[in-house]
Amino acid sequence: MSHHPEDPAGAAVETDPPPDHLPPDHVPPNHHGHHPGFAGLGGLVAALSMTVGRGGDAELAVDLAALRPGDHVVDVGCGPGAAVRLAASRGATVVGVDPASVMLDVARWTTWRRAGITWQVGAAEALPLPDASADVVWALSTVHHWPDVPAAVAEVARVLRPGGRFVAIEHQADPHAGRHGSHGWTKAQADTFAAMCGDAGLVDAEVSAHTGPERPALAVVAHLPAR
Ligand SMILES: C[S@@+](CC[C@H](N)C(=O)[O-])C[C@H]1O[C@@H](n2cnc3c(N)ncnc32)[C@H](O)[C@@H]1O
Repeated sequence: MSHHPEDPAGAAVETDPPPDHLPPDHVPPNHHGHHPGFAGLGGLVAALSMTVGRGGDAELAVDLAALRPGDHVVDVGCGPGAAVRLAASRGATVVGVDPASVMLDVARWTTWRRAGITWQVGAAEALPLPDASADVVWALSTVHHWPDVPAAVAEVARVLRPGGRFVAIEHQADPHAGRHGSHGWTKAQADTFAAMCGDAGLVDAEVSAHTGPERPALAVVAHLPAR
């Protein structure tokens, strides 16, 4: 049995091995969609581990979303909230959504300046937000965990305002690698996800590669058409 790589203590959250029966270009963008979720002591340790080393992805999300003061942002799978705090510090109003209560608990404990920030329990596949309420939706290192990507991307399209921007970022990863090395995307997985964005009515989906201060990343940026 392999330990989940985002559970440094090796406790509580286990996952199946990577799908090594599939060739690399047929691995879906949610190859860890079977993950049982972060909870208990293992979830707490994982959440605490994500309070550091996430600033580079957050900065990249701000840049790719062309974030502006006053934007309404939804951070899907926000974890302990690094990108939520950064967006709020840039003048955005931000909702951090995550299905794991332990992630939101750590987010609350580690957020000192709370102006403009709301935390909501919820999953990408059923966002607890009204239609056409966000200028920006982003999803950092979380799409690889979503059980139902088409449903989730349809939800992104639902909550975006016309002309709204969607950014998904994943670390460049080998889905057949062990431990943390499998959590992220290959270019083929990013391309597949971009195509799924198109199926959901988002347009101009583009894949880009980035070298960051932490790890190389792949991003998909797409838009909801302006009316
Ligand atoms: C690797 S963490 C990334 C957290 C944060 N975005 C970051 O970059 O630091 C993945 C997060 O996705 C969340 N997640 C898992 N399944 C999800 C789903 N179906 N919808 C939304 N978030 C989900 C997990 O609870 C976890 O907080």
